[in-house]
Amino acid sequence: MKVLVIGGGGREHAICDAISRSPKVEGIFCAPGNAGISEIAECVPIGAMEFERLADFAAEKNIDLTVVGMDDPLVGGIVDVFEERGLRVFGPNKKAAVIEGSKAYSKELMKKYGIPTAGYETFDDYEKAVEYLKTADYPTVLKADGLALGKGVLICNDEEEAIAGAKTIMVDKKFGDSGNKMVIEEFLTGHEVSVLSFVDGRDIKIMASAQDHKRIGDGDEGPNTGGMGTFSPTPYFDKEAELFCVEKIFKPTVDALRAEGRPFKGIIFFGLMMSPKGPKVLEYNARFGDPEAQVVLPRMKNDIVEVMEACIDGRLREIDLEFEKDPCVCVVLASGGYPSSYEKGKLITGLESFEGKDDYRCYHAGTRLDDEGNVVTNGGRVLGITAKGKTLKEAKEKAYEATQWVDFEGKYMRHDIADKGIDVKIEKGDEYA
Ligand code: AMP
Ligand code: GLY
Repeated sequence: MKVLVIGGGGREHAICDAISRSPKVEGIFCAPGNAGISEIAECVPIGAMEFERLADFAAEKNIDLTVVGMDDPLVGGIVDVFEERGLRVFGPNKKAAVIEGSKAYSKELMKKYGIPTAGYETFDDYEKAVEYLKTADYPTVLKADGLALGKGVLICNDEEEAIAGAKTIMVDKKFGDSGNKMVIEEFLTGHEVSVLSFVDGRDIKIMASAQDHKRIGDGDEGPNTGGMGTFSPTPYFDKEAELFCVEKIFKPTVDALRAEGRPFKGIIFFGLMMSPKGPKVLEYNARFGDPEAQVVLPRMKNDIVEVMEACIDGRLREIDLEFEKDPCVCVVLASGGYPSSYEKGKLITGLESFEGKDDYRCYHAGTRLDDEGNVVTNGGRVLGITAKGKTLKEAKEKAYEATQWVDFEGKYMRHDIADKGIDVKIEKGDEYA
């Protein structure tokens, strides 16, 4: 088979890596890809939003399966374009991807079908939002309705901050048209867990759990980022939590989408808060997480292509997903200055240290090859240094050891990735009863 992957970050590198382990696959293409991906796939210089050009490429090259890694093309309807042209593609169509594309829609869906989530109100009028904020409880959470590179969420500690935030989203349009509507949401506390799942329109199979670290600094200090590191599995998603979520969140979500005439095929990523009142949905994503994919996929024993094909054909119930016991940790190496401004084009050294080391992976995110063929930095998040170990502690130690094998000017990382999952005792009341 020939497979085309759409995207060019660490997530897509992990997806290409998983696809390369499939005995069915003889060729991988990636558009646009990056320097690391180009070692296992042929990178194609077509942008992820150029749907017709991508479809032309898939048709010309007789691609058997296209896998869409990124949210923007999914929400924009790339799957519809491919399907109309009879091209086989893995991912939700535009109608189904709306669970990520509109927070107002996803909240409405959860409310209608009784799926646990934070209480909320939706506004399309700034003045009305301000009125509401004058009587709200604090902290409170403001969310731009549409996609905003993971940055459209503001946690506000008081009324003044919240009104300024509402202005940023709805009047100044910092996140563009994503701010035409805004959700104001109850602030939840607890551990955040990511659960990725395969869905075939009717059935859902969940993957091993993961936990992200969204803030830039150690101890969860500083601004939000796309994700500074992950580990899998997380102790905060135990068997009991899983049983609760399967019955009250995962299956009801898939059923709700089907009932609404939006059957979902692809990956649903459940962003969950394990709150004192039980698990609640923080957000849905219509794709693998980044950097969740980097710790979940290396542990998956199944042939990913077989699972994706089962989703497309509506026979996911025939598949049993299996994951290795060994935990996995990913530490993101970022450009100094990220998530604000940072420089690009810094030479990356030491990448060869990963060759032949099965327990380790160096997933490329923002990298490219310069004119001389050197690998240089090309984004905020640069590399995802990933390792497996017998225990989470060992995986963490190995990942951090490997962060020393590579270097570039301004290299920045957090030093506490996975600490939340090591030596924890989970206290629970009767919230999952
Ligand atoms: P989202 O893009 O919806 O995942 O939001 C980004 C981040 O904001 C989440 O990962 C949480 O850390 C935080 N967040 C979102 N919604 C809430 C909420 N209702 N209560 C507390 N934190 C939240
Ligand atoms: N790591 C969070 C996300 O991919 O949205």
